[in-house]
Amino acid sequence: MTAEPEIAAYKPCLVEVRGGKSYLWCACGRSRRQPFCDGSHKGTGLEPLRWTADKNGEVLLCACKHTKSRPFCDGTHNMLSETYAEANESDGADAVLVGYEAYRNGTQRALLDNGCYVIRATGENTRRLGTLAVVPLIDADSGAEHLSQYLVTAESGASPVIEFPGSDVVLFIESGAGTIRIGSREYKVARETGVCIKPGEAFQVVNDEQADMIVTVSACPLGSEMIVHETMPPDFDQSIPERTQGVDEEKQQAMGDRFFQVLIDHDSHGTPVTQFIGEIPRSRAAHHHHLYEETIMVLSGEGFMWTDKTRTPVRPGDTIFLPLKQAHSLECTSDSGMRLIGLFYPSMSPAINY
Ligand code: FES
Repeated sequence: MTAEPEIAAYKPCLVEVRGGKSYLWCACGRSRRQPFCDGSHKGTGLEPLRWTADKNGEVLLCACKHTKSRPFCDGTHNMLSETYAEANESDGADAVLVGYEAYRNGTQRALLDNGCYVIRATGENTRRLGTLAVVPLIDADSGAEHLSQYLVTAESGASPVIEFPGSDVVLFIESGAGTIRIGSREYKVARETGVCIKPGEAFQVVNDEQADMIVTVSACPLGSEMIVHETMPPDFDQSIPERTQGVDEEKQQAMGDRFFQVLIDHDSHGTPVTQFIGEIPRSRAAHHHHLYEETIMVLSGEGFMWTDKTRTPVRPGDTIFLPLKQAHSLECTSDSGMRLIGLFYPSMSPAINY
């Protein structure tokens, strides 16, 4: 009779591996050398998995032994308990409260430790581009290595034709409704829709209504400046005809007492990034890390952004920048919960944390 694998830990192990070297991943959960086998599986009917690394680097190997992508963590560990891991007393015990200071282009910023920060637009000094008011939130100058992000207010009418040469561009319609033109194609969009534009394509924001549209525009890799075209180039990547994804409760994935829905990612649109919308209840998660560079915009609800040594209040409209492997926790202090939109590089499941 084969025994059930034991949960060795409710989060993966971050391991440095060497390309071409083979490893014995513990599948039974009984090894004292997690995530690797130490022979403790004998008599369980369970066998370790021999795995050869295809390149040098850091990987997250599953320690809960319930992953569906052995030996890698796929985030299943977050679905193994009723609630999401809550912060304990030591998480951010010495965290200092940080305030917001004037930054650039009409923004205020609260600088946390390790280059993590929260930025909010004040509506002043925005860059005008036809019907668009553009505020840069995240880029190389502010410490990002992979992502750039802009907050764009689109007045009624058709915007100039924009391109980020060589980059995948992902939009999020925060409010309003209209049409996104990409080459010769048109996509109707409403509030809380994700849109994907492929490298080599240009796009235009057409606001069909009187009320402004609020759109976040993200590009990856960063470094390609936004350029304006006189007319719309015809280029369109036919291999990915579907370009938009709205909120769909059927596609929501639970993570304890919170949930997320992926809107745009590598599997759906071949992008190097993942865009997701999510909700967290009144809670404070245990401090954790991700193997990705991330931006999070608060859509509703209030709370605090924590790192190990600092914390700052957050509210709707604030954008959080998280460098790779940054220890953090987003606390929600609103009884009605907090709704957020996230985007990160490289693309993977938002449930993968350590
Ligand atoms: S540790 Fe097992 S899925 Fe993440």
